Amino acid sequence: MKYVIGIDLGTSAVKVLLVDQEGEIRYEVSKSYPLIQEQQGYSEQDPNVWVRETLDGLAELIQARPCSPEQIEGISFSGQMHGLVLVDEQGQPLRNAILWNDTRTTSQCQEIYQTIGEERLLDITKNPALEGFTLPKMLWVKQHEPDIYERASTFLLPKDYLRYKLTGQLAMDYSDAAGTLLLDIEENTWSEEICQALEINITICPPLVASYEQTGTLLPQVADVTGLSTSTKVFAGGADNACGAIGSGILEEGKTLCSIGTSGVILSYETSNHKDFGGKVHYFNHGAPGAYYTMGVTLAAGYSLSWFKEVFGEDEEFDDFVHDVETVPPGSNGLLFTPYVAGERTPHADAMIRGSFIGMDSSHRRKDFVNAVMEGITFSLNESLEIFRNSGKKVDTIVSTGGGAKNHHWLQMQANIFNATIIKLSSAQGPGMGAAMLSAYGCGWFDSMEDCAEEFLKVEQTFTPQKDQVHEYEELFKIYQDVYVQTKGLNERLASYRS
Ligand code: XUL
Repeated sequence: MKYVIGIDLGTSAVKVLLVDQEGEIRYEVSKSYPLIQEQQGYSEQDPNVWVRETLDGLAELIQARPCSPEQIEGISFSGQMHGLVLVDEQGQPLRNAILWNDTRTTSQCQEIYQTIGEERLLDITKNPALEGFTLPKMLWVKQHEPDIYERASTFLLPKDYLRYKLTGQLAMDYSDAAGTLLLDIEENTWSEEICQALEINITICPPLVASYEQTGTLLPQVADVTGLSTSTKVFAGGADNACGAIGSGILEEGKTLCSIGTSGVILSYETSNHKDFGGKVHYFNHGAPGAYYTMGVTLAAGYSLSWFKEVFGEDEEFDDFVHDVETVPPGSNGLLFTPYVAGERTPHADAMIRGSFIGMDSSHRRKDFVNAVMEGITFSLNESLEIFRNSGKKVDTIVSTGGGAKNHHWLQMQANIFNATIIKLSSAQGPGMGAAMLSAYGCGWFDSMEDCAEEFLKVEQTFTPQKDQVHEYEELFKIYQDVYVQTKGLNERLASYRS
């Protein structure tokens, strides 16, 4: 038997999956790490902590002896998107990485619009300037930490830094590069126009590769500390959402994904890079050959629930914390939550907005709040789905992955709020599985990603919409949509009180 490894470098943890030729996960390790949040709106991580935890995870896997190191043919990566890692000529990080959920860059986004023009930016990158993307972060460092910026030789994204440390080769794949705002999506090259206009030396951009391309083998010192073999091939890998799409079989037009991790996304496969969504949803390169995807993002999806648990149920196991939500009816007995605890992206690109509980009364128990948080996250994702449906896309079946696919009550809620059949796969490890699949395809095990998906992915359960609840949720969704409008001004007035 041969094996591949998929490494999912997430925001809260790195997960290492050992997958065999039939797509079975044979071993799984997860190592968590914290966010560094020195100020409101800041979100950073130390790139060397990612490397340390990944090496520990790989060593743990090899020590468990699920197979011999020589049987592991390939390794690939899925990575949290957009995070800026600046390295010097020796490849050492010059500061902490500034992550996708960091919102300090509102004025840099304005600068990008003023210099490039909103329409031209959309023409080139297919995306608007959002605080979370990489280019505004680069401009922030250039303005606020010029000494560091001057010493920067290359910029990388999180999983590219990790791969560099494992192989010694600098590279970035198209699916992740698409989230930097520096890639010309139609030409598949770094945009000279954007670099010149913003006085960024284009040599700071790393070589571009396809997600399934080989980018070296493991360095001898990495093989030494992990017990892996230096013959294991390393493939570029992709953005977590592109890998999540691959690992959920979103490989042909008409397929839709709902993924609830720290952030949440509704994602749809595209064969063309010419469609016009006017920047309302993100438009990125897929990890599969010649493909694209469009996607709406809820910034704090699983993060809203983990925040709520941390504050109101810190010492409980997650399953105990959510076990009684099943008894709560749609609408959580008149309690409504908006998940804007870190601002929002789709459909409101708004770093200032904050979350609300509307309608609290003294009869509410904690389970009503937990259910309202789940509903609020799902309503937010439904706003992205509405954009797709309004553009003419037919969405009647959605594959659900991530933490949101672990709870049956939440899966049924998704079916009712989205008014679509929800498919749960036997592995909800979308991004890690997608990384393993890129590796399997790169190793030549399959002729196409579709063939690989056919072999690797199995449907475990389906959830169909329940008519009466669908109707109730349609009415509640209208109230949900109103909360943003009604609380925007209030949140702007409260902003100066934030620490
Ligand atoms: C996508 C985005 C998030 C991160 C989470 O644009 O910012 O989904 O990729 O890791």
